Parts: sequence; structure tokens; C-alpha cells
Amino acid sequence: MERDLSPAEFQRFHDLIYKLAGIHYPTEKLALLSNRIRRRLRDTKVATYDAYLAMIQSTTQSTEQAAFLDSITTNETYFFRCQRHWDFFKQWAQQRAANPGTRREGFRIWSAAASSGAEAFTITIILHQILGPNFGGMPVEVLGTDLSTQILEEARAGLYRPYAVAQTPPEVVKKYFTKTKTDELLFDRQLAKAVTFQRHNLMEPLPGNRQFDFVFVRNVMIYFDVPSKERVMKNAFQVTKPGGFLIVGESESLMNVNQPFQYCKPSIFQKPDPTASKIKA
Ligand SMILES: C[S@@+](CC[C@H](N)C(=O)[O-])C[C@H]1O[C@@H](n2cnc3c(N)ncnc32)[C@H](O)[C@@H]1O
Repeated sequence: MERDLSPAEFQRFHDLIYKLAGIHYPTEKLALLSNRIRRRLRDTKVATYDAYLAMIQSTTQSTEQAAFLDSITTNETYFFRCQRHWDFFKQWAQQRAANPGTRREGFRIWSAAASSGAEAFTITIILHQILGPNFGGMPVEVLGTDLSTQILEEARAGLYRPYAVAQTPPEVVKKYFTKTKTDELLFDRQLAKAVTFQRHNLMEPLPGNRQFDFVFVRNVMIYFDVPSKERVMKNAFQVTKPGGFLIVGESESLMNVNQPFQYCKPSIFQKPDPTASKIKA
């Protein structure tokens, strides 16, 4: 297929992507989306856009549907992305670790839209720096989720190109990574055990009864329109502990988004804690 999607074909793919992932592809991205789909047409040897659309619509959980979603998502990520967020997280973790009353609660963190795992592993590095070997015996559970099955495989492998650690202090790279023969960096296998990776679509509630102290939903809502952002916020709120925090990407505005978190600082939000306010009153 040589040509880009026609406006009508673009609309059909747009609607399916929106239905499956909540992602809104603006018309300016017609050429980008066409390129991405063309690659899938080549790989699957399907001749036309409409035939490919029929193929990925045919069964809800088809392998090709997963490959299609992998191909239309943007997975850029790196360790210690947005230092301001990590300073905030570190301060919170230090306070919790220093307080005998809260220490035993441990640390439960969700890296939603985790991509290849740099965010989830940054969390474990910071907690390891604060708590020491074996996290000082405290329970540490980090959940990394993403829509893309392919990127989750990369996260589980924990192998990174030097670009991913360009914002990481060299002594941290030295301590937590091993250089491979191909100049890639393998993240510490022991620390990686604190992280579980699992597929999850942010448009759906997180299954199970898990509750988190911190939820990171960064650099994914730029692809969502207001109704999709509202779904994500509602789902994140349900699994955030009262008093827990939500962190969104620096450039992601929640203005005009009807959502239940309280604003703390730019891109940092908190779930109100009714018990805390009762004590203060
Ligand atoms: C740009 S990366 C952000 C990674 C990381 N949070 C960060 O800030 O560095 C966006 C990720 O969101 C994922 N994603 C897109 N739509 C999603 C959805 N509906 N549910 C879950 N993940 C989604 C993509 O697969 C991609 O890995």
C-alpha cells in the first residue's frame, strides 16, 4: 500500500483506536498513523487498509489486535524523568521510613503506562537508596502496567540503551546496571524482583483489590481527550489510598477535567483523607 489513509479510512481507524485504548489521534497525525499501519500491512501481507481493519476487528483479543496497539502507541521513557517528581517522592518515602507508625505499612506504588519499565525501576532505586539492602525488611511492591504487550516484555527483560540513563547520575548507573557486550545496560536483577509487570488498559478499572500510596500516570494523557482522562482519573482514584498521591506528566493539564483528586503542586495531586481531616477538626 503506497498511499496514506483516506479521510474516511482515517476516521474508521481513529474510532477503533479510541474504542480500544481511549487514544485520540488528531487529523494532523494522519501521515504518522498511515505509516504505522502500513508497517502492519507489510508484516501481515494484507493488501488494503479496510481488509486490515476487518482483521483487527474480527476477534476482540486477537494477536494482531495486540500487535496493532503496540504499533500505534508511543513508548518514550527514561530513568529519573522529571526530577521534581522524584524529589517529591523521595521526601515522602523518607518521612514514611523515619516514622515507626507508618514504616510497617510499607510502600505500594503503581506505575501506570509504565512503558519499558524505567519509571517503575526508578522507584525501586530511590526506595533502595532510602531503605538499604532488602529494603530494610519492609514490604515494597511496585506494579508496572501498560497496554502494549511488546513493551512489557522489554520491561521484564530490563535491558536499556544508554539514552535511557542519560538523566541518571553516573554513580547510580554504576551501582544499579551492568553493561552488556552490546553496550546495553541491564537493570539490577535483584531489585527488579520488587516490580511486577502486567498488561492493563487505563480505560478499565485495575482488577483486584489493590490500594497504592502513589500512582504515576505520566506522559500518557497527552494522547487522551477529556472523557478518556476522566475515566483514567476515576480508575486511579479507586485504587489510591486516602492521603495517597497521583502524579501526572509535567505537560499534562487536568484543567477542565472533572476528577476527584485535590491539587497539591503542579502535576501532583492527592486523594483526600477523611480520617486526617476529622483528627484536625
Ligand atoms: C510515552 S510512554 C510514558 C512512559 C512513562 N510513564 C514515562 O512517563 O516515562 C506512554 C505509554 O502509555 C501506554 N499507553 C497508551 N495508551 C494506554 C492505555 N489506554 N492503557 C495503558 N497504557 C497505555 C503506551 O503503550 C506507552 O508505553
